[in-house]
Amino acid sequence: PSGSEEPAGPSARPFVPVTANLDELREAALACRGCDLYRDATQTVFGEGPPDARLVFVGEVPGDQEDRRGRPFVGPAGEVFDRALAEAELDRQRVYVTNAVKHFKFVIQRGGRRIHQTPRQIEIGACRPWLEAELSVIRPELLVCLGATASKALLGPDFRLMKQRGAYLRGLPWAPRVMATLHPSAVLRGDTPSAKDALYGLLLEDLRKVAADLV
Ligand code: URA
Ligand code: SF4
Repeated sequence: PSGSEEPAGPSARPFVPVTANLDELREAALACRGCDLYRDATQTVFGEGPPDARLVFVGEVPGDQEDRRGRPFVGPAGEVFDRALAEAELDRQRVYVTNAVKHFKFVIQRGGRRIHQTPRQIEIGACRPWLEAELSVIRPELLVCLGATASKALLGPDFRLMKQRGAYLRGLPWAPRVMATLHPSAVLRGDTPSAKDALYGLLLEDLRKVAADLV
């Protein structure tokens, strides 16, 4: 049938309660089976932070540590993120941190290590009702997409992160001002220590801009 707002296929929609309470959303998300990713993951990793946060960060998908601990950005990428937040003088306690997809997606390597996989478009679309629900409760002034996956999910497939990072986009439904910057794990993937430093510098530059504009 025509006129439906969301394509048929996997979706969190049936699991998302109509509520303006973030704790109720988080509780309901624990039982989401909106796509297949819940099957192999340990638990839903919902967003974390105060409901009145002025600033929201959206990452890609929880990693191994996040899956075990049930909290976003608490592994190696989280360490980089925390360091950059602190250096930009942004208080993590006062921002809301979430992911485009809320279950860990991985493959198991020989030796048993669980290696993160980038979620597919169908999984990002399936999980989107959770992100929309979080944002409609919080209504942040500023939203920052961390990395290409979150950027493409929120800003469209043609978004080019390294060309367009650090600039505010207006007129989007997510927040009055939206910015994209590097994913903290992109910093860790730099080939050399100086490449890592340069990538970290770009992330920090963007976060400093956000911090200056939120005063
Ligand atoms: N990478 C992400 O995108 N999100 C997390 O929560 C952790 C690592
Ligand atoms: Fe639901 Fe998102 Fe988990 Fe899929 S990834 S089961 S849509 S919470």
